[in-house]
Amino acid sequence: MKRYSVLELSENVFLVGVKDWNRKVFDALIPLPQETTYNSYLVIGKEKTALVDTVNPGFEKKLAEKISQVIELKSLDYIVMNHAEPDHAGAIPYLMERNKEALLITTEKGSSMAKTFYKVSEERIKTVKDGDIIELGGKTLKFIEAPWLHWPETMFTYLVENKILFPCDFFGAHTAFGFFDDEVEEILIFAKRYFGEIMMPFRNMGRKALEKLKDIKIEIIAPSHGPIYKNPERILGAYRKWIAGETKEKALVVYISMWNSTEEMIMTMVETLLSEKIEVDLYNISNSDIGDIAKDLVDSSAIVFGVPTVLGGMHPLAITPAYLVKVLRPPLKYGVVLSSYGWGGGAVKQALEILRPTKIELVGALEVKGPPSTDDHEKIVEMGKQLSNKIKGLS
Ligand SMILES: Cc1cc2nc3c(=O)[nH]c(=O)nc-3n(C[C@H](O)[C@H](O)[C@H](O)COP(=O)(O)O)c2cc1C
Ligand SMILES: [Fe+2]
Ligand SMILES: [Fe+2]
Repeated sequence: MKRYSVLELSENVFLVGVKDWNRKVFDALIPLPQETTYNSYLVIGKEKTALVDTVNPGFEKKLAEKISQVIELKSLDYIVMNHAEPDHAGAIPYLMERNKEALLITTEKGSSMAKTFYKVSEERIKTVKDGDIIELGGKTLKFIEAPWLHWPETMFTYLVENKILFPCDFFGAHTAFGFFDDEVEEILIFAKRYFGEIMMPFRNMGRKALEKLKDIKIEIIAPSHGPIYKNPERILGAYRKWIAGETKEKALVVYISMWNSTEEMIMTMVETLLSEKIEVDLYNISNSDIGDIAKDLVDSSAIVFGVPTVLGGMHPLAITPAYLVKVLRPPLKYGVVLSSYGWGGGAVKQALEILRPTKIELVGALEVKGPPSTDDHEKIVEMGKQLSNKIKGLS
C-alpha cells in the first residue's frame, strides 16, 4: 500500500517526516503563522539503514507508515538522534518498541537525555563523538558535534556520499509550506524568525558550528523544520551574518499604551528616526506576534521601548518582550525607554532593571506625568536625533 507520497530527495535518501498544519504555537510561546514541519530522513545503504531524527508525539504512526513504504520497519538498523527535544525525538519510544533491534545513535549528553526523556535502555544506545562515522554500505554517516544549538546535546549528521547535512534545528524554519527552499517565497523571513527565537542566544556556539562546516562540501542542507535547501549558500550566508551580529541602521520600536500618552511619545520618536533615515520596525505589543519581534531583534542596532506604569511597574504585557530582549541576547547596541504615568510612576525603573545586565547603552529615558507636553515632544525629538547619530556611528 502506497498511501503516502514519499519524496526521494537524493539517491536513497527519503523524506519521511510530517507537516503539522494544525500547530499554531510552539514551546507554548511562539506563534506559527505558517504552521510547521518535523522532517525525518531515511537513509538506505546496501547493508544498513538509518533514520535521521523523528517527529513530534502524535505523528508516530504516520512516520512508521511512511518508513514502511520504503523498507520494513523491522529492518531499520539505526535511529540518529541529533537533538533530544520531543518535536524530533518524540517518536523514538514508538519506533524502538516496534523494532527491538534498532540502535539509537547520539552524543554522550544525548544518551543521558534519551534515558531520562524516552526511557531508552543503555544497551540500545550507541554514543558517538565528533568525527565518528557509521558505514551503511555505500552510504557513510559522519557525526559532527555541535553542542548548545539550542540544547546541550545537539549534533549534526553528514551523509558523505550525497553531501547532505542534517543539522536538525540549526538552519530550520517553522513553515509547513513547500518542500524545497525555492518553493517558499518568504523562506529567509521564516528562517530569520526561527534564528531570532531559538538560535540567537547561542551565537557563540553557532559560530563554532559554522567553523566546523567550513571544510565540508555541502550540496543539500536538510533541516528538521521547514524546506530543504538545494541552495545551501542561501541559508549559510544568512546565518554567517546573523551569527556575526551584523546590524542595520535600524531601530526596533516596541510599545504598549492604554490611553495613548506613551503612544504619542513613541510616534514622535518614530517620525524623528524616519526623518533621520533610520529604518524602523514598529510593534504595538497588544497586537503583535513576538516571533516578528524576535526576527527584528536579529539585525536591529537599537531598541525603543514604550511602556506606561501599571500598579507601580511596567504594564504586564510589556514584561515578556522586555525579558526576551534580555535573554535572546540580540546584538542591540543602543536603547531608549519612553513612558507615561499617572501619579508615582515605576515603569521606567522596572524596564531598566530588566535591561541592566545587557550590553545595551541607554541613550535616554523619559517618564512623563499624563499626556506628553510640547516640551516633552521636543525632548523626544532631541533624543531621537541623538539615537540616530549613535546608530549611524556619528557620535
Ligand atoms: C490599571 C491601571 C493601573 C495604573 N497604575 C498606576 C500606578 O501604579 N502608578 C502610576 O503612576 N500610574 C498608574 N496608572 C496610570 C497610568 O500610568 C497613566 O494613566 C499613564 O498616563 C498611562 O499611559 P498610556 O496613555 O500610555 O497608557 C495606572 C493606570 C491604569 C489604567
Ligand atoms: Fe529544538
Ligand atoms: Fe525543533
